[in-house]
Amino acid sequence: MTIAVFPGSFDPITRGHLDVVRRARRFADEVVVAIAENAGKTPLLPIETRLELARGALDHLDGVRVEAVPGLLVEFCRAADAEVIVKGVRGGADYDAEMPMALMNRHLTGIETVFVIGDPALAHIASSLVRDVARNNGDIEDLVPQGVAPAVYRAVGSVRATKE
Ligand code: PNS
Repeated sequence: MTIAVFPGSFDPITRGHLDVVRRARRFADEVVVAIAENAGKTPLLPIETRLELARGALDHLDGVRVEAVPGLLVEFCRAADAEVIVKGVRGGADYDAEMPMALMNRHLTGIETVFVIGDPALAHIASSLVRDVARNNGDIEDLVPQGVAPAVYRAVGSVRATKE
């Protein structure tokens, strides 16, 4: 049984993340969406909300679960018996950012990282841009799975929060 860990901040989960999870399920029996509690940046959404939103967005998919990562990703992978780390790549900037992390994780425990090229129609979607659009009262409904937008609007104090 191949277990793949898909790590990230998921602040919030987006339609791009969903696409990567679906693609990873084609080669992994189980995909563990691993949400870093501390990814070296201050998240908009607390870990409990990020977990809740991701679970709500993914509970219709078989062989997918969502967990928090309290410390080192490689330790989480070891405990989960994961063979591989999966990351989505939208373009060269993602590759440049992911490459040192993949090398570091391999240095630490030997675990390999598989890069998945997502749907190009979703390549403009990043959690940071979703937060920025929401902060400026823009519409994020098409960028995130159903049920996610209200929590983001509330967290940024958008006028849209009261319209939900
Ligand atoms: O979605 P992000 O913020 O690009 O994901 C970054 C993440 C969470 C994958 C990375 O920060 C991480 O793995 N954090 C867990 C702590 C850890 O293992 N750090 C060393 C990674 S080389």
